Amino acid sequence: MHREKQKISRGLFVTVEGTDGCGKSTQLRMAVKHLKLLGYPVRVFKDPGGTRVGEEIRRILLAKKSRRDPIDSVAEALLYLASRRVLVSRLIEPALARGKLVLCDRFTDSTLAYQGFGRGLFLPELRTLCSFASGGLKPDLTFLLDIDPAVGLTRVKGTDRIEALGLAFQEKVRRGYLELARREPKRIKVISADGSPGEVFSRILPYLARLKASHYVK
Ligand SMILES: Nc1ncnc2c1ncn2[C@@H]1O[C@H](COP(=O)(O)OP(=O)(O)O)[C@@H](O)[C@H]1O
Ligand SMILES: [Mg+2]
Repeated sequence: MHREKQKISRGLFVTVEGTDGCGKSTQLRMAVKHLKLLGYPVRVFKDPGGTRVGEEIRRILLAKKSRRDPIDSVAEALLYLASRRVLVSRLIEPALARGKLVLCDRFTDSTLAYQGFGRGLFLPELRTLCSFASGGLKPDLTFLLDIDPAVGLTRVKGTDRIEALGLAFQEKVRRGYLELARREPKRIKVISADGSPGEVFSRILPYLARLKASHYVK
């Protein structure tokens, strides 16, 4: 007997953002554990990274600054976008098409906050490039973990090329993120990243519960 294939509805795309050491990776791990226990079809990615090409680009981007071979802000932005492009087309879009709940550690908002507000690249131009790179993909929901960068930087041990830019840069990035959230309050939820990991997660939890209600109810 022929049975019609059940139509799979498109998955949801959730990203975690914030300055270095705010707790993105920690909160993402907690969210993944929680959502998997509830039976969600979760896929987790990291931007930049996730693919071989992406990991190589990530290595270039985070390597300590080479004085003999510096990369300027535009090249830096384009490398991030190239990595994101591969991640989106190879992994994120296919997962969303199969109805997965996709969580990603950083995405386009990072480029806007770091290369736009932090480095001072022209924001409208950067937005166009970001949209080109992601094929217009935007997160359905974004958690912005907000913390005083001075606290964030004391949490991170090693310093990579971006973290080594110091406090003043991180403060510009933080202000940039908050401006992005102000412009898109429905998508970007500002979560105070102060306190213990458990305390921070308790602020995220209500939004995860709402996800379920709105999309993945069985
Ligand atoms: N709420 C918290 N309070 C104190 N330390 C934290 C908290 N969240 C994470 N950490 C620690 O701070 C460091 C950076 O956290 P991480 O999740 O890697 O941040 P990010 O991914 O945003 O850079 C890690 O060593 C982590 O264990
Ligand atoms: Mg991290």
